[in-house]
Amino acid sequence: MESNQETQNKEKFKLFNDSVKTTLIGKPKDNGNEFWNSIDSTNTRLASLANKGAAEGTTVISRQQSLGRGRLGREWVSSYDCGLYFSTLLRPTIPISDLPVITLCLGVSAKRAVLATSGVEIGLKWVNDLIYNTKKLGGILVEMPTGLNSDKNSQALVVGIGINVKEPESELPEEIRNKAVYLNELCDTKIDTISLASELCFQIEHIYNRMLAGESNLILDEWRASSVTLGQEIITSNNEISGKALDIDETGALIVQTAEGKKLVHAGEISVRSKDGSYSF
Ligand code: BTN
Repeated sequence: MESNQETQNKEKFKLFNDSVKTTLIGKPKDNGNEFWNSIDSTNTRLASLANKGAAEGTTVISRQQSLGRGRLGREWVSSYDCGLYFSTLLRPTIPISDLPVITLCLGVSAKRAVLATSGVEIGLKWVNDLIYNTKKLGGILVEMPTGLNSDKNSQALVVGIGINVKEPESELPEEIRNKAVYLNELCDTKIDTISLASELCFQIEHIYNRMLAGESNLILDEWRASSVTLGQEIITSNNEISGKALDIDETGALIVQTAEGKKLVHAGEISVRSKDGSYSF
């Protein structure tokens, strides 16, 4: 017999599929979305589906992740029903060298989705952290699956988004507890992760279509307006570049005014933190 939890998960999945008002993101041609009670990582699962030829827009959501991943090999703590753990598949027809720009544009989608669902205005920290008052509300991890089938695998981008909704009851490590913030603490209404997921699909699709139509510059302007990095004194995690973050260039790199002149910081394996320590993730 089906357990209560299984029934609930089926209902949530149906609600998600019914509430997504898009034509691509969350609406793949083969209806291949997945909803999990618990999984290792939605990004890992979607990468394996992508390697088998999953359609663009395929979306995987889980109520918990046992091996949630963040950027730079970090863990993404993903306690049961405490956040949105969401991955969607893009197969962009633009050069993969534009990846950093795609990442920044996705940050704008996430910001818009949070605002539409909760009324909360968040900031964007280069390259893809969602920030409220110097604390981390969420993050984005964009990965290219590295499967053997290069044909089916071409131009696949797994976009993983994690948004903190409710503080877990179990004790979190101190360094995470002090730096994290949860959407439920920031607004009066209780946030429904399914509504947040379907709004995310809507906003990603809107921004993605604009990017494909050549409007990335306008979206980057919106990123600039929401940035909590620009104008700050920053230092890279490898301590090699420090100075004032002036702007981003058209490739998404951060332009930093250092004592030796202007330098570019590329996303890749580097994170930035503020010099006064007010945020460092
Ligand atoms: C970061 O800020 O370091 C990025 C965090 C990305 C977390 C999400 S949760 C859904 C998806 N699955 C993962 O394992 N990671 C991403």
